[in-house]
Amino acid sequence: MAKILAIESSCDETACAIIEDGHVVLSNVVSTQIDTHKQFGGVVPEVASRLHVEKISIVIKEALEKAGMSVQDVDAIAYTKGPGLIGSLHVGVQAAKTLALMYKKPMLPTNHMAGHIYANAFVKELKFPLLALVISGGHSQLVWMKEEYSFEIIGDTLDDAVGEAYDKVSRVLGTGYPGGPVIDKLAKQGKEHYFLKTPKTDGTYDFSFSGLKSSVLQLIQREEKLGNPLVKEDVAFAFQEVAIHSLVDKTVAAIRDKKPAMLVLAGGVSANSRLREVMAEKMQAFPETDLILPPLSVCMDNAAMIGAAAWVAWQRQEFGTWEDSADSSMELSV
Ligand code: KG4
Ligand code: ZN
Repeated sequence: MAKILAIESSCDETACAIIEDGHVVLSNVVSTQIDTHKQFGGVVPEVASRLHVEKISIVIKEALEKAGMSVQDVDAIAYTKGPGLIGSLHVGVQAAKTLALMYKKPMLPTNHMAGHIYANAFVKELKFPLLALVISGGHSQLVWMKEEYSFEIIGDTLDDAVGEAYDKVSRVLGTGYPGGPVIDKLAKQGKEHYFLKTPKTDGTYDFSFSGLKSSVLQLIQREEKLGNPLVKEDVAFAFQEVAIHSLVDKTVAAIRDKKPAMLVLAGGVSANSRLREVMAEKMQAFPETDLILPPLSVCMDNAAMIGAAAWVAWQRQEFGTWEDSADSSMELSV
């Protein structure tokens, strides 16, 4: 049995978790900065770094207390190396290195997106080959994993990430940050009324969301010019239907071609209620592929998922070095 203390600080959540054997959560503490960034309509990197500095030791202490242990009792220190905001990442990296130095513990530098994928290991042991739909504020990717910890990007966004599109649409509707949960909720009260074109990226597993975002903007301007009152719920409905169906259609195409043993959703947008509903419905046609939906508690940024991914490196005894540092554009690799 191994206990990993994991630290996450890549964006606007300061988090620490203690995970046993990759899937038992002993504690999972997340301090979110959303209320501060809300005032600015999005994450302000410099403000985020400062808040991480203020919160990191408090969050680590709380995670240890909740798990009823001290740093001595853990076997390794995992941290998010990237991708993310560079100043934010550095806070977590330095906190992890300090603990590792003081308590002579090995370090496990971990990719944030791998963490999102491995959040699904809290539901069920992952089966390979596995397809992951990785959708967050910075990513929209289809990731093929032929085996444990091997990542091949088979589809990517040609422009914006889907979470970014949700956030921008919410901004133009004046419904605040982060946009995903708000649009998700508004869309439920909306109906078919406005028409938005589906993005075209034929013959590939790639996505595109910037055209859709611009169409929403044009729709709002057109209605304003015509003097029509804008029904925000219906705009949210139209946007969400197109965005979700484009994610689902590409994923289903990849499932049909590659026949994975498992499909997992990963990243903040995987909390979307409509996506979960449509994906579950479509996957009924593929009984040989197990669909895993990550629990809502680990969809948004957290450190439990970092501990789950780091567990693979721990088993292989693949440790980091003192030279490792934050990497804001770190890629998933084979
Ligand atoms: O994974 P995450 O917490 O942070 C990044 O790594 O980017 O994802 C945050 C993104 C934001 O863009 C947020 O608007 C989106 O996930 N999101 C959602 C929902 N909840 C969060 N998007 C659509 N529907 C949701 N329910
Ligand atoms: Zn994330």
